[in-house]
Amino acid sequence: EDRCVIIKNLGLFIVVLVFMMNLKEIAGFAAAEEIKDGQIVGLGTGSTTHYFIKKVGLRIKEEGISLMGVPTSYQSFLLAKQWNIPITTLEEHDLDIAVDGADEIDPDFNLIKGGGAAHTLEKIVDYSANELIIIADDSKMVNVLGKFPVPLEIISEATKPVFSELRDMGADPQIRMAKFKDGPVISDNGNFIVDASFGEIKNPIQLEKDLNSIPGVVENGIFTQMVDKIILGTNNGVKILK
Ligand code: 5RP
Repeated sequence: EDRCVIIKNLGLFIVVLVFMMNLKEIAGFAAAEEIKDGQIVGLGTGSTTHYFIKKVGLRIKEEGISLMGVPTSYQSFLLAKQWNIPITTLEEHDLDIAVDGADEIDPDFNLIKGGGAAHTLEKIVDYSANELIIIADDSKMVNVLGKFPVPLEIISEATKPVFSELRDMGADPQIRMAKFKDGPVISDNGNFIVDASFGEIKNPIQLEKDLNSIPGVVENGIFTQMVDKIILGTNNGVKILK
């Protein structure tokens, strides 16, 4: 009977512990365990990949694994530096794997990304990788993309014509403003970020193509047909979707 009580309490303790754990951390740390010695790794951007990069750094330090990272933003470059992850470029190495976050994920693994204004380089790096793993807390899973506005990186001079095209497509575009509203967000590439709500996106593959065909749009935040695996942080631990 004593044993039963101990097991029950232990179970309760584990449940409480998982609840207390950050779901983004659960996903980020789990993805870092997938990285193999010698790999070239795309380092995504955002608060979830923050944990991934940290854990990769810890594995290099504690397990002595050797790898190189290709950052998807200045933010992830700085984090890689902080955790002593050697950096390389797409010019010098082919990518084995990339791990990145997402703002929305649909059941076909189409994504909206760019909440951190980094989707242009993210798309280039993620697309270049042999394997792409997306990490997120499970609140990012949706039935249909579109609640989160689609981020677009645009050349500033093209703002008016791009807005006009987006309105014709039924969207309600807004220039993303800096936190204290003291100016527009400027991407790592020196461009504006526009957030465009289209409502429910019935055909993300088509919309991704259509948006990139507007002159002045550098890249949009819809990512389709790229993802190999999703690692979710949930209150019950890690959930893997393939
Ligand atoms: C940055 C991104 C991020 O991956 C996305 O916004 C998710 O961020 P977070 O992990 O902080 O929720 O696309 O451009």
